[in-house]
Amino acid sequence: MYHLVQALRPQLTLEIGTYFAGTTEVIARALCANGSGGLLTIDPFGAERVPAILQTWPKDLSDSVSFMTMNSMEIFMAFDHLKRILDFSFADGNHAYTYAF
Ligand SMILES: C[S@@+](CC[C@H](N)C(=O)[O-])C[C@H]1O[C@@H](n2cnc3c(N)ncnc32)[C@H](O)[C@@H]1O
Repeated sequence: MYHLVQALRPQLTLEIGTYFAGTTEVIARALCANGSGGLLTIDPFGAERVPAILQTWPKDLSDSVSFMTMNSMEIFMAFDHLKRILDFSFADGNHAYTYAF
């Protein structure tokens, strides 16, 4: 994942499913190494857990990450409404086919 983000150099990345921000950190570290790009990570059940984790990170790392308490369908509809195009996305939320699709 780290090398993929380094190679693709995405400006706008979406992660679906933050949990304990493990892959969030991997992606954020690659974006910091790139010197550009931001990561939006979403998890409908992460409101209490995730901000507390991000606060423990070095500032340059946490500055590259935005967390929102949303589910995948809500973010899909928001991006569709805003006509925003993602450069890179990682779908690791609900793994049932319907949700992942
Ligand atoms: C496998 S964990 C994510 C692990 C994380 N990406 C990592 O490897 O460090 C799945 C997470 O997705 C969240 N989740 C479940 N349904 C979701 C949905 N519809 N949209 C976004 N996130 C969802 C769960 O709350 C859970 O925290």
